[in-house]
Amino acid sequence: MRYKILILSLLVLMSLYAQYREYPFSIKKLQMTYQCWSLKNQPELQPSDWFNATMDSTHMGMRATNWSAPIVWTNTYNELVLASYYKKHPVTVGLIVFAVGRYLLYYLGHFLESADRFFMVNQKVIIYIMLDDFSYMPWVDLSRHRTLKIFKIKQERRWQDISMVRMKVISEHIAGHIQHEVDYVFCMDVDQIFKAKYGLETLGDSVAQLHTYWYKESPSKVPYERNKSSEAYIAVGEGDFYYHAAVFGGTTTQVFKITKECAKAIMKDKKNNIEAVWHDESHLNKYFFLHRPTKLLSPEYCWDLSKNKTSDIKTVKLAWNFKNYKFLRRRL
Ligand SMILES: *[C@@H]1O[C@H](CO)[C@@H](O)[C@H](O)[C@H]1NC(C)=O
Ligand SMILES: *[C@@H]1O[C@H](CO)[C@@H](O)[C@H](O)[C@H]1NC(C)=O
Ligand SMILES: *[C@@H]1O[C@H](CO)[C@@H](O)[C@H](O)[C@H]1NC(C)=O
Ligand SMILES: *[C@@H]1O[C@H](CO)[C@@H](O)[C@H](O)[C@H]1NC(C)=O
Repeated sequence: MRYKILILSLLVLMSLYAQYREYPFSIKKLQMTYQCWSLKNQPELQPSDWFNATMDSTHMGMRATNWSAPIVWTNTYNELVLASYYKKHPVTVGLIVFAVGRYLLYYLGHFLESADRFFMVNQKVIIYIMLDDFSYMPWVDLSRHRTLKIFKIKQERRWQDISMVRMKVISEHIAGHIQHEVDYVFCMDVDQIFKAKYGLETLGDSVAQLHTYWYKESPSKVPYERNKSSEAYIAVGEGDFYYHAAVFGGTTTQVFKITKECAKAIMKDKKNNIEAVWHDESHLNKYFFLHRPTKLLSPEYCWDLSKNKTSDIKTVKLAWNFKNYKFLRRRL
């Protein structure tokens, strides 16, 4: 096809140019770019194909941001359309979870069993488990299409440190191997349980989770970091939504960027002896303020069951797991 020849010659020219300029491009990177271009030339799924943005009086939840990112609620997406699209364009989805410290041992089994049942049903999934002690690893029997990969990470003394180091570890693992293994990746806290199908409707370039406690609140009232000395600082009156760090995701490229930038900001704060009010969550909110997510998930995708359901919460797909909650300062 003509555009292929065009792109190929462009590739050759670019690689010549790269050599001439001694740019740190590699041919491999250029080939990957070419693959991206050719993928883009296949008919892509448009929001109007699978997403219903029409509001009605029984469903009060906002369905789109003012930068046109869909906000996914129950009954806003067409599962059949999504399933048939991804059947033709198969993807592998990664799920990264940290289970660090003895008290988190309790959660891992429940998280994994429920993920096996409800997360990306019928899709290929690789679950990456980051542990500080292999002896905590529970036995789980996963179905077909699901692979577990377990990694050991360094022990940290304080839970705040674990939460801060998470971004760095994720970015390193994506760069090291995850980018070659999956197309999309989610990072989730372990003390949660899947309750209903959590599927293809959640895939997007960069995906953020609306926080159960703050999704109806105006941005001036949410707990962003307000100290100007922190990299996570957001001025009062600015910001769009308060996002929950218990769930975020996107393509491997985007999640790499998110975690790398957050890790950088966290390190900078550390050098300046400052710790943002909600740790990595504050930094994630700053990142999504500067680089708005392309898809938002309604609180149904990360609900606190101890809170009374409001009428906009139809089906809870993922819920906080409250056992032993009083021993936990924050979920990881
Ligand atoms: C879209 O959602 C609205 C409100 O829930 C509903 O009335 C309408 O029937 C839906 N449209 C489609 C095509 O599903
Ligand atoms: C979207 O809303 C935010 C505040 O929530 C505002 O700062 C921004 O200017 C709005 N963008 C557009 C395109 O209206
Ligand atoms: C901001 O953080 C710095 C460093 O921790 C601290 O010295 C300063 O008092 C804080 N400012 C406010 C307004 O809290
Ligand atoms: C939930 O609703 C019940 C009954 O209306 C009420 O007694 C309870 O206090 C509510 N719980 C919360 C956390 O709001």
